[in-house]
Amino acid sequence: MKTTAKLITLLIVLSLGVTSAWALEVGNPKKGKFLFKKSCKSCHVDGAEGGKLAPLTKTQAQWQRFFERDKHGKKPEAWSGLSAEELNDILQYVHDHAADSPQPDTCG
Ligand code: HEC
Repeated sequence: MKTTAKLITLLIVLSLGVTSAWALEVGNPKKGKFLFKKSCKSCHVDGAEGGKLAPLTKTQAQWQRFFERDKHGKKPEAWSGLSAEELNDILQYVHDHAADSPQPDTCG
């Protein structure tokens, strides 16, 4: 009996962990794609100053960390024209199409 309860608890904890890693709902991914093309690709294509970058360049966890902690630390002014809502839309898009997502995207 005790073991069953432990197992059930373990299963619940594991499934919560898995869903939270996959599910992120902070913005609108369609708007995010549009904004990524408009506001990121100007500096993030081959040969441009930021270097080539696409949703599949990073994992979901890396994107989340970048948007939550780094916040474009190497060139903060590049993000200063974007609202918190717009940045959430972009995060939603790159997260949904990251390297370890079901649909990695180059945003070609
Ligand atoms: C004005 C130009 C510019 C714009 C616009 C810009 N970036 Fe950057 N970005 C840079 C530069 C410069 C770096 C630093 C590159 C380096 O260190 O070699 C950088 C670095 C980064 C990095 C780190 C690269 C790495 O290898 O980890 C990420 C991620 C990134 N930018 C994402 C974005 C996103 C997302 C947007 C749009 C919301 C954006 N950038 C808009 C210029 C820009």
